[in-house]
Parts: sequence; C-alpha cells; structure tokens
Amino acid sequence: MTKNIHALIIAIDGHSSCGKSTVAKDLAKKLKIAYIDTGAMYRAVTLYALRNKLISGGEIDKEKLNTSLKDIDIQFRSNVNEGTNETWLNGENVEEEIRTLEVSNNVSQVSALGFVRKRLVELQQSMGEKGGVVLDGRDIGTVVFPNADLKIFMTASPEIRAQRRFDEMKMKGQNPTFEEVLENVKNRDLMDSTRKESPLKQASDAIVLDNSHLSPQQQLDWILEKLTQMDVDF
Ligand code: DC
Repeated sequence: MTKNIHALIIAIDGHSSCGKSTVAKDLAKKLKIAYIDTGAMYRAVTLYALRNKLISGGEIDKEKLNTSLKDIDIQFRSNVNEGTNETWLNGENVEEEIRTLEVSNNVSQVSALGFVRKRLVELQQSMGEKGGVVLDGRDIGTVVFPNADLKIFMTASPEIRAQRRFDEMKMKGQNPTFEEVLENVKNRDLMDSTRKESPLKQASDAIVLDNSHLSPQQQLDWILEKLTQMDVDF
C-alpha cells in the first residue's frame, strides 16, 4: 500500500561533521516536511547554561540546571525570507549564537546529562509524533523514535570529515591546523560513542549512508530512491 510522506518519520543519525543537517534540510525542503535539528536543542540548553553561569570553568552546576529546565523553552520557527528553520530560545532567535565555539566546546558535556536528554527526548517526541518529519541527531533511530519508518546512519571517514570542517573554518576566517581538526573529530566520535547516556550507535534496522564520496545532491537522490522503494508517495 502506498504510504503518505506526511505520516512518516525519518531518522538520520551519525557521526559529527558528516553532513547530516545538510541532507536533512534538503530532504525536508524537497518533501515539504518539517525538519527537527536535535543537536540545535542540546546547543540551546548549553547556551542557556552558559548565559546563566550554570557552567563555569567547564564545570556544570547540575542541580541548578536540572531545576532550570522548566524555564527553557525551545522552538523552531521558519524564516520565510531565508527559507530556513531557526532555533528560538525563550522567545529569542539564537540560531547563530548556538554555533559559536564556546557552545561547541561545552555541548558534549551537557548532552551527556541524563536529565537533559530525558527532557529533550520528550520534546522531540511531541514535536515529531504526528509524522511528516525528518529529525537528525545521534539517538533518533535508537531512542527518540525506535519505530521510525526510515532510519539512516550517516558516516564518512574521519579524514574526510576533518577536511570538510577544516575548509569551513578557513572560510569563516579561523586558522586551525588540519591535525587539530582531525583530532577534534576523532575525540568527538569517541565521546559520542562511549558516553553512558544514549551513546551514538547504529540502530539494527538502519541503512548506512557513507557519504565520503557523494555530493549533497547524490545523497538526496539516494534517500529519495529508498523512499520510492518503500512505496512512499511524495
Ligand atoms: O549535531 P551537533 O554537532 O549540532 O550536536 C551538538 C551536540 O549534541 C553533539 O555533541 C552531540 C549532541 N547530540 C546528542 O547527544 N544527541 C542528539 N540527538 C543530537 C546531538
């Protein structure tokens, strides 16, 4: 029986810096479905914690952060002019601020906290339960939506991911060495896949998309082909 795309949940998990959000955004645009960037939600909580001095010197005041969670409102709103979806924290557009190095340097610690994950997973489930949605993250196919209709596990070699990040950082005027970036990519892989709470791992029913040598368009086509094979109407 033909399936309606607006009732489907698509989960994209995988390593950091392998282009999950690019392909998820392209897919959402093409299929006219919602996109939920779950990494942005962990980043928004981290930004809140930094602004409210709940993290200092790399140490998190866990008790205070736990009681503050009820005061953290995270939403995605579409920017019609840009054709993008942006992250809002307590009524403020924080899309740019959640991508700063300071947030990036603290988000792994925040996303390792069980109480933060519990709250954000509930929020992600309520945002996506009706379907017509693509979510990207680390635990979408394993924890958030274990019954997702299509699960993709994206990866690319550490060297290729480091090269992409290195090029991106250079474009932004930053000046790291390639070795530093490669080490950061490898460290994040290790932290993501060995943490106690919801470590990054491939769901047993996920399909692997190794995009080491694929362009964004080829990745999009690859996913559309999978949907066609599933008899999805889009
Ligand atoms: O995808 P990203 O780099 O924006 O994610 C930011 C951080 O959040 C990263 O350290 C991994 C973590 N994360 C997570 O633990 N679970 C998710 N579902 C999404 C992101």
